[in-house]
Amino acid sequence: METIKYTLTEDQMPTAWYNIQADLPTPMPPVLHPGTGQPITPSDLEPLFPMELIVQEVSQERWIEIPEQVQSIYRQWRPTPLYRARRLEQALDTPAKIYYKYEGVSPAGSHKPNTAVAQAYYNKQAKVKRLTTETGAGQWGSSLAFAGALFGLEVVVYMVKVSYRQKPYRRALMEAYGAKVIASPSQETEAGRKILAQYPDSNGSLGIAISESVEVAVQDPQSKYALGSVLNHVLLHQTVIGYEAIAQLEQAGDYPDIVVGCTGGGSNFAGIAFPFIGAKLRGEQNSIRFIAVEPAACPTLTQGKYTYDYGDTAHLTPLVKMHTLGNSFMPEGVHAGGLRYHGMAPLLSHVVELGLIETRAEPQLSCFAAGLTFARVEGILPAPEANHAIKAAIDEALRCKEEGTSKTILFNLCGHGHFDMQAYMDYQAGLLRDTEYNAEEVAMALAGLPVFN
Ligand SMILES: Cc1ncc(COP(=O)(O)O)c(C=O)c1O
Repeated sequence: METIKYTLTEDQMPTAWYNIQADLPTPMPPVLHPGTGQPITPSDLEPLFPMELIVQEVSQERWIEIPEQVQSIYRQWRPTPLYRARRLEQALDTPAKIYYKYEGVSPAGSHKPNTAVAQAYYNKQAKVKRLTTETGAGQWGSSLAFAGALFGLEVVVYMVKVSYRQKPYRRALMEAYGAKVIASPSQETEAGRKILAQYPDSNGSLGIAISESVEVAVQDPQSKYALGSVLNHVLLHQTVIGYEAIAQLEQAGDYPDIVVGCTGGGSNFAGIAFPFIGAKLRGEQNSIRFIAVEPAACPTLTQGKYTYDYGDTAHLTPLVKMHTLGNSFMPEGVHAGGLRYHGMAPLLSHVVELGLIETRAEPQLSCFAAGLTFARVEGILPAPEANHAIKAAIDEALRCKEEGTSKTILFNLCGHGHFDMQAYMDYQAGLLRDTEYNAEEVAMALAGLPVFN
């Protein structure tokens, strides 16, 4: 019998998160205080995050135990299945073996609850009443809304305006979980009002939505801020994905030659890849290639500069060294809303600088085409973000066919696209187009950056 689905029992779920910082050959550059330009201290971050998460943010420990209460919520959908994409392999007529880890089985439909539940837990422990956040595609906002509901926390979500319009059902899902959703830029914050005065028709961006949610959190002692990607502790929480995949591939008697993930802020890619990169850094294996795939319309890793920048547009966040297109860069309204961020996780950026992974940018039309090829044989309709990973996985499988080699390819199917049907309708109706990023705009956005290198 040919196995399609490799599953683990609940007691085989990882009980600790993996911190790649323990294995890196050189440490990450420090996070700087926006006022002084000096490295920040944990207390600088206290208005934003509970101390347990700040400790995780700076930890150099290899393993961080997952609290029992978080594990018990994870068990609602974890361990997630690992599929062998046998029908996709057949359709491509490739000698490659393709596996995908499916995170779309979570209640919100993506990998995001892996960190939302953990963040809500630590905030609840710290007696926080309200969480503020931003959301691009709505996957993160609905994940935090779900986690907030479980822990009795109020959740306020600033949703990037273009997504607010494109994805009304994501908004409805957040509201169903009890969250308040506000289109960003909004009139409710100083950051939002400033942007609207300058650009009344602004589509919004993750950078602006972060400014709004940070502003609200720091003004209210009962509130803290939660971020769905980019930060070290968020990437840390996602590593359950890769560790489960390692155990599942062991069941299959396989090990990947190539690991692929899409990158917006870097968290699902880190989740699937860091456990394998860690094994490589510790010398336990050495031949895997890692491929991070981003949209050509927002090519942070492939075209951005590795430099200090703010995480948000209004400059309320600390300065982090990362690949960035400049915090004022306004990406096109591509349908993969979760990948439209000007920056990249500093930890992933550092890993790129260390030469540990490859990066590539793909235009949206070829990604939607890859997503439909996948859906028509595997049955799962992917989130538009995940289509970027599928595109690269298919390209690598086709390369195997050309070269007559059999590689094992693993990619992260980070979410389903059931709330992204407008995007698929627009694609099938021929209404979407490929947009290149505007190099002049990026140059201008980068010229405005502070110099702290
Ligand atoms: C389904 C999905 N995939 C990927 C991303 C990008 O984020 P990250 O790179 O942190 O995984 C998002 C972000 O909203 C998302 O919703």
